Amino acid sequence: MRGISGKTRRMHKVTLPVGERVPAFGLGTWHVGDDAAKRSEELATLRLGIDSGATLIDTAEMYGEGKAEELIGEAIAGRRDEVFLVSKVYPHNATRRGTAAACERSLRRLKTDRIDLYLLHWRGSVPLEESLDALASLREAGKIRHYGVSNLDRGDMDEAWSVPAGRGIETDQLLYNLARRGIEWDLLPWMRERRIPVMAYSPLEQAGLARHRKLADFARRNGMTPAQAALAWLLAHDDVIVLFTDGISEAMNVDQDLFGEARLSRIIEEHGHLEAGELRERILREIEAFVGTADQHDDMTMILLKYERASAAQMAV
Ligand SMILES: NC(=O)c1ccc[n+]([C@@H]2O[C@H](COP(=O)([O-])OP(=O)(O)OC[C@H]3O[C@@H](n4cnc5c(N)ncnc54)[C@H](OP(=O)(O)O)[C@@H]3O)[C@@H](O)[C@H]2O)c1
Repeated sequence: MRGISGKTRRMHKVTLPVGERVPAFGLGTWHVGDDAAKRSEELATLRLGIDSGATLIDTAEMYGEGKAEELIGEAIAGRRDEVFLVSKVYPHNATRRGTAAACERSLRRLKTDRIDLYLLHWRGSVPLEESLDALASLREAGKIRHYGVSNLDRGDMDEAWSVPAGRGIETDQLLYNLARRGIEWDLLPWMRERRIPVMAYSPLEQAGLARHRKLADFARRNGMTPAQAALAWLLAHDDVIVLFTDGISEAMNVDQDLFGEARLSRIIEEHGHLEAGELRERILREIEAFVGTADQHDDMTMILLKYERASAAQMAV
């Protein structure tokens, strides 16, 4: 394991509308906790992430139906103050009373007394105003420090902004990567005007970008892997928080030393502190020139939402 430490290395940060600065590199936990055999590896990865300065951890009540939150609770035991915890409420729970109850369950699993940022996972049938009011009440009660949304499009955000609690939204967690740039058309400019950062999920397009031919060319020329280049492109933006999930795919022909803990360390070490100019500008411009322009159709968003909704429906039965 490489000897890097969050205490000695400065992690690139992003500013929330409320003024708080949070790490630009967060650990995602979708599928974490699903497989008991991977438990100790996942715990080690989470702890290494925290040690390395990736102290923002993203989870949801949906992930493993609470198992991801339980694992995080274990990983952060004794070091709660070092991390910025993000969790999400299911849309079908996002009523006034349901949100409060879901939050209590998450707090119990995470073994903490507060969630730093609590998001509505996607828009369901509960009126948006009710969900946002519920989130604002939780903030007043001190159960959560900040709140936001996920998978809300431009129209949803306009609607949210028209109600008082909507003005308290600190982020919209969205599908955003080099291959999925649909939000650049209307949502991203809208968010930038209001200084609301994006929390980008699926930065590797679920590993698809690791196989992208043009990105691979770029990466080879610059002595990095396609995955690193894809993460670096996102990290090069001032207002994007990147959620990365460490995982090992036998099918991926990537350097062995980039897998698992070593891969996480190396990516953080090389790209977790990009604000100092040159590399960052180079990466933005060169990668964009290689890969092409924005894609208006966000097929992947639809696939992920279908998957998540199917899981939610199964759960409700
Ligand atoms: N709000 C939402 O609706 C939403 C939706 C999706 C995700 N999220 C959040 O965002 C986080 C990140 O999203 P994601 O998991 O979809 O991210 P992703 O990074 O696009 O995809 C993760 C997969 O990419 C593969 N991978 C990772 N590093 C690689 C590398 N160097 N080379 C090749 N393949 C690599 C791994 O596959 P293998 O495991 O096969 O190795 C990993 O499971 C999630 O964990 C979750 O916290 C939120």
